[in-house]
Amino acid sequence: MAVVRSVFVCQQCDYRAPKWLGRCPECDAWASLVEEREGGPAKHAAWERRTQSPVPFAQVSAADAERTSTGIPELDRVLGGGLVAGAVVLVGGEPGIGKSTLLLQAAAALAGFGSRVLYVTAEESSAQLRMRGDRLGVGGDTLLILPETDVGAIIEASRSVDAVIVDSIQAVRCAELESVPGSVGQVRESASRFVGLAKATGIPVMLVGHVTKEGSIAGPRTLEHVVDAIVQFEGDRHHAHRLLRSIKNRFGPADELGVFTMTDRGLASVASPSEIFLAERRDGEPGSTVLAAIEGTRALLVEIQALIGEPAQGTPRRTALGIDGGRLALILAVLQRRAGLDLAARDVFVNVPGGIEIAEPAADLAIALAAASSLSRRPLPRRRVVIGELGLGGEIRSVSRLDARLKEAARLGFTGVLVPASAADIVAPAGLKLIPVRHVGEALAELAAP
Ligand code: TYD
Ligand code: MG
Repeated sequence: MAVVRSVFVCQQCDYRAPKWLGRCPECDAWASLVEEREGGPAKHAAWERRTQSPVPFAQVSAADAERTSTGIPELDRVLGGGLVAGAVVLVGGEPGIGKSTLLLQAAAALAGFGSRVLYVTAEESSAQLRMRGDRLGVGGDTLLILPETDVGAIIEASRSVDAVIVDSIQAVRCAELESVPGSVGQVRESASRFVGLAKATGIPVMLVGHVTKEGSIAGPRTLEHVVDAIVQFEGDRHHAHRLLRSIKNRFGPADELGVFTMTDRGLASVASPSEIFLAERRDGEPGSTVLAAIEGTRALLVEIQALIGEPAQGTPRRTALGIDGGRLALILAVLQRRAGLDLAARDVFVNVPGGIEIAEPAADLAIALAAASSLSRRPLPRRRVVIGELGLGGEIRSVSRLDARLKEAARLGFTGVLVPASAADIVAPAGLKLIPVRHVGEALAELAAP
């Protein structure tokens, strides 16, 4: 067997040293040296040997990659329809959010279909896993549990199975490297070995990755390029439901959102998330609007809440939860300048209940109306939905996929929807009245008289 030597490489300037150094002697960067195997990360031999000749476009097969359902509808959705043969999926999230729970459920469901599934528990003992499994009602002869941290041993044990789950990538280590588990070099090399396994054998591999406070999986972003898909739990573990989002997916749409509730028997898929997000909303209250958002491939209704304080001394507080703070500042400036609202000296709090992050500009008008409604203490009429992007001139701009948004609003029994004026001519679903608005001022006129 060839002796594998390791080398410490500066991530800034590529300087190479035989030992770890706190500071790169070449470029002076601190803590930039990462251990690698001499000659770079593990090579995927079988992968590289496969040479291909060009094929005329017309002869390219349109058949989708071979997919296996995980048996969990919302996980399948986020993966783009299930696990793809030979694909490596990284499942991220903060500690305690439900990564091990979800993957043990998926492992059990796959095993229930007759697949041989290897669940590598590198953090918890088999006994701990057994306790969790009993709670989840997990069983079966084809679900194999391996308490192991050595990557070589895990790969050896993977040869005769149909799917592999490694919990977690930060807890395993390659014997070839000296650095500790969880270090950049170890995480990268280990992930790269699992990619090699998946590509050579066609076995799908799911890796658990803890997310640091800064939001990156395994510290560095290096894994993003190594794996085929990244799905990540969004928000924190204090919410009743859990949101799983695809951040990257080579075999399906990115940005797809899965919604679960955490029950005493594990994570349960939520088929109609709009109902969950609106469950505790009090219709007809000032400071609350309903947005028809697009999350991944589906439309979703969510509540937007705003609370505006009395004019205060000193710098007013601006707090945005679930939306971007910069976006909120823009919307408040437009309300101030284009609609004459007195907001500059007031505290403003905006929240999207349920822990979901809304990033699309189509939420602007719903945020603006929630703020204006709180300020004026006038609610929107009941059963209203709001859709529209706000321009700096106060104009309401058109949004993507309006049809899907309207359909979801109608399905949940809403009767009126504020839409950009450009949508005035479209045919709304039965029972839903379109209220086209050209300017933010027109939209404010929809707030109830005092
Ligand atoms: P876990 O899957 O261990 O999180 P991670 O692997 O991301 O660190 O999540 C455990 C949390 O979920 C823990 O707080 C207990 C809770 N839980 C339930 O509420 N119901 C269940 O059936 C299980 C197994 C866990
Ligand atoms: Mg865990």
